[in-house]
Amino acid sequence: MRLTGKVAIVTGGGSGIGRGIVLAMAREGADIAIPDIQVLNAEKVVDEVKGLGRKAFALKTDVTSSADVKAMVDRTREGLGKVDILVNNAGMASPPGLPFTNNTEEDWDRTFAVNTKSVFLTSKAVAPYFIERKAGRIINIASIAGPLSALTMPPYSVAKQGVITFTRIVAKELAPHRITVNAICPGVLWTDFWQKLATHIATTNPAFAGMSARQVFEKRVADIVPMKCEQTPEDIGNAAVFLASEDARYITGQALMVDGGCVMW
Ligand SMILES: NC(=O)c1ccc[n+]([C@@H]2O[C@H](COP(=O)([O-])OP(=O)(O)OC[C@H]3O[C@@H](n4cnc5c(N)ncnc54)[C@H](O)[C@@H]3O)[C@@H](O)[C@H]2O)c1
Repeated sequence: MRLTGKVAIVTGGGSGIGRGIVLAMAREGADIAIPDIQVLNAEKVVDEVKGLGRKAFALKTDVTSSADVKAMVDRTREGLGKVDILVNNAGMASPPGLPFTNNTEEDWDRTFAVNTKSVFLTSKAVAPYFIERKAGRIINIASIAGPLSALTMPPYSVAKQGVITFTRIVAKELAPHRITVNAICPGVLWTDFWQKLATHIATTNPAFAGMSARQVFEKRVADIVPMKCEQTPEDIGNAAVFLASEDARYITGQALMVDGGCVMW
């Protein structure tokens, strides 16, 4: 029980990777706030956390809105007593852009707002409180798409590389206050995110004609993952627990690849 007595906020914790992080942290003893734009999903995960004997609540929150984010942090402090850990997980894929000229201005604005600006807003909302307490952990879910400069999703790749850069900037600034800030870069996971992407590829790319979305995904894993097997949200949850735990007290400003070996640096 490495997180006993801790309170975590996991944005977008109502599905996929976020749900994996929520459950891994709850199993280690944390109480959890789950802000998500799809609040009905978050409420189902709340029930799972309560089943593990921990406290949790869901809150309809748009992480691109500073007012929503501020209200969410205040509500967590009131409802669960404090905040020890912030996990910025909420995110979205950008519409495919190959060639890059296919993407619109609105694609870029929305992708940056959800994946990158949101990390600024939530970090800004907790930082003064973490500084006052001289403690706190921030974990940002980036992606291998950043370091790989993924050709098919330019706005998403740039937005996630931006998350890694912002992680390092905030880590440097907050290090003297004993606050750590790290990123996790997942590889390829069969969540809503990849199911939508694979459906799009199967229906629009002639190279994948006749394949199901699941087959497109499996081909992607076989093509780019050196370990040649599928990863799960629990893999990301386990990494997040480690970074939030006392075992990682001296690790900050890092981008941890949890990707079966896709990116080695
Ligand atoms: N699935 C993958 O292969 C993969 C790979 C690398 C990185 N990631 C990243 O992992 C994170 C989680 O993705 P996932 O695969 O679980 O996808 P998902 O679509 O299952 O989950 C995303 C969650 O974020 C929430 N969300 C979206 N926009 C929001 C907003 N404006 N405000 C609040 N909540 C919002 C959604 O409601 C959902 O619960 C994302 O940041 C994604 O970019 C995913």
